[in-house]
Amino acid sequence: MSARTSPGLAGDRRPAPPPALRVQDVTVRFAGLTALGAVSFTVAPGSVHALIGPNGAGKSTCFNVLSGLYRPESGRVLLGDTELTGLAPHKIAALGVARTFQNIVTTEGTVADNLMVGRHVLTRAGFAASALRLPGAVREQRAHRDRVREIAELTGLGDHFDTPVALLSYGDRKRVELARALCLEPRVLLLDEPVAGMNGAERARTAEVVSAVRARLGLSVLLVEHDMGLVMSLADEVTVLDFGRTVAHGTPDEVRRHPEVLRAYLGTPGADPAPAAAPAPGEDPV
Ligand SMILES: Nc1ncnc2c1ncn2[C@@H]1O[C@H](COP(=O)(O)OP(=O)(O)OP(=O)(O)O)[C@@H](O)[C@H]1O
Ligand SMILES: [Mg+2]
Repeated sequence: MSARTSPGLAGDRRPAPPPALRVQDVTVRFAGLTALGAVSFTVAPGSVHALIGPNGAGKSTCFNVLSGLYRPESGRVLLGDTELTGLAPHKIAALGVARTFQNIVTTEGTVADNLMVGRHVLTRAGFAASALRLPGAVREQRAHRDRVREIAELTGLGDHFDTPVALLSYGDRKRVELARALCLEPRVLLLDEPVAGMNGAERARTAEVVSAVRARLGLSVLLVEHDMGLVMSLADEVTVLDFGRTVAHGTPDEVRRHPEVLRAYLGTPGADPAPAAAPAPGEDPV
């Protein structure tokens, strides 16, 4: 598979389903601490796959491996048949895997500026051509800006396109991170706690956006989240980590009642980490 060309400049084209993202026996250790111990799971094409677990379970470490920030001690990550293990982050991004971070990193510039930064990997005109405003480069910039505006609309940021991010509400600012990741035209989107710190209304809005993104863009989503309401309502499959080990895997319904999950979250089996009916997003985190 080669790096993608710049897709999607002319609106939502529904591309072929994304390849499966396979995590195989991935182990990461930090000075004797096993953050991930032979973790395996597969994000099926076009699915929302949730990766859940208590604090320190290894979820963000897993994202850092998937996005190329950490090289695992052993194990592999594959996107379709392409091995991602050990590739530099920008190469993984260019192959179609984009992520958000657990904490907001966006503080400067307008929404449009931040989304255009997300477009960088797809920009074909060189720096000199852009700086000299050569016609091809200008056309390309305009096409990117049009697409970025569409992504802002899709993520509920259309009204704030030219607003400095520093002036946005917390929920909108966090959605800028999501929109910026989408500007890479990913085939797999990794969301690390996309609703952390949000109020109920902001959580519900973000849940709608994630659903809309999946439906409109046809991508796969790997979702790390402590908000069980959000997980239960969005995920097709759930993998549960505890102390770097996979303790359960299945549909949200299967996982919710799994004794190991109850033990991981609550210390004792027998209690329910989430209500039987999928609650609305905004439910208190476990
Ligand atoms: N760079 C690092 N150096 C040393 N230890 C680390 C490093 N990154 C993570 N850890 C440790 O690895 C374990 C897993 O951390 P990780 O951040 O992946 O957990 P998490 O599941 O994302 O937790 P949370 O829900 O709190 O975000 C923790 O014990 C953490 O302290
Ligand atoms: Mg984390």
